[in-house]
Amino acid sequence: MSTLITNIGELVTNAPRQPGGGPGPFAAAANAALVMDAGLVAWTGPASRPPAADEIVDARGRAVLPGFVDSHAHLVFAGERGAEFAARMAGEPYRAGGIASTVAATRRATDPELSAGLHRLVGEMTRQGTTTFECKSGYGLTVPDEARSVRLAAEVTPEVTYLGAHIVPPEFDGDVAGYVDLVCGPMLGACAPHARWVDVFCERGAFGADEATAVLVAGRAAGLIPRVHANQLGPGPGVRVAVAAGAASADHCTHLTDPDVAALASSATVATLLPGVEFSTRQPYPDARRLLSAGVTVALATDCNPGSCFTSSMAFCVALAVREMRMTTQEAVWSATAGGARALQRTDVGHLSPGARADVLMLDAPSHAYLAYRPGVPLTAAVWKAGHLVAGSPA
Ligand code: NIG
Ligand code: FE
Repeated sequence: MSTLITNIGELVTNAPRQPGGGPGPFAAAANAALVMDAGLVAWTGPASRPPAADEIVDARGRAVLPGFVDSHAHLVFAGERGAEFAARMAGEPYRAGGIASTVAATRRATDPELSAGLHRLVGEMTRQGTTTFECKSGYGLTVPDEARSVRLAAEVTPEVTYLGAHIVPPEFDGDVAGYVDLVCGPMLGACAPHARWVDVFCERGAFGADEATAVLVAGRAAGLIPRVHANQLGPGPGVRVAVAAGAASADHCTHLTDPDVAALASSATVATLLPGVEFSTRQPYPDARRLLSAGVTVALATDCNPGSCFTSSMAFCVALAVREMRMTTQEAVWSATAGGARALQRTDVGHLSPGARADVLMLDAPSHAYLAYRPGVPLTAAVWKAGHLVAGSPA
């Protein structure tokens, strides 16, 4: 059954440079139409000349975008840290050590409890227009707890990341090498079959350059592709480690030196910015303009997690990117769709050209700019995933 969406006020396509080549630069057309068929985009063009279809949806001048691609999220956990957030807003600093309290709660939780929390967040994301998302482990930090985290994540997304190297858990206090051996050995063996990516939190208080490299090399040998939590809390080796490991993405990139920016610019590693974290930890935002001027590919993602940023809203991240990081509305929407697709090495999502997956977000607004122009307002009219209506209604 084919569906024609017509009278689209603004259709953001991020059309590919060549067919099948994945998202291209930001591109949008006014007074447009789009046909979905068999789960894919079958046609886009002017609303004045639409082809026939089984079903017709009238967008009545509203904007249609590729579904958001959230390339960084920690969704498998138990408990919450609202009091930690409140204390931070009252002047306490953010500390990576807060992760340990979520680890304790996650270990205590049953599989159904973890699964219920995960599904609640996935529902939230879907209703806000996210149609592809990455999901990390990293709050179990034992072989069975990491294994069930990636197994549960694999039930909701193909973009599963093994983050056994999130922090050194309390039982390995003083024995980082022993924990890295576990992460690179039995834990990796139990998790790799359920994961596509391997990640490490390369930061003072978490893992250093040599340990991070060991984790990424072992992950690569087990068939996983590296990505790195890099340069979040201060300057450090994270970006350098990510680029050297051929990581798909270096995430956070809040504290970068000129050589870090140059390394990203001369590599295929995407810089994934997570401005919700700086919002929620009251820190200075990453310098997006510096990265963009250097020619680095920039993605935007939520980092949804109970500690440093508990938002599942890509629209909020777009608004922050525009207002606080001086990205244009086009750059921010591109980074939240096509940029995320690049960070996940996906060519089928993040754009709406023939052959792309029919992941479609219709806004209750006439243009993509409203995502930043009307911050905090729920603007999701309807969401289709692979051609199926999964949230809202286009009526
Ligand atoms: O991406 N940086 C490391 N991990 C998360 C924070 C996790 C937490 O505080 O629970 C992040 O910010
Ligand atoms: Fe993270």
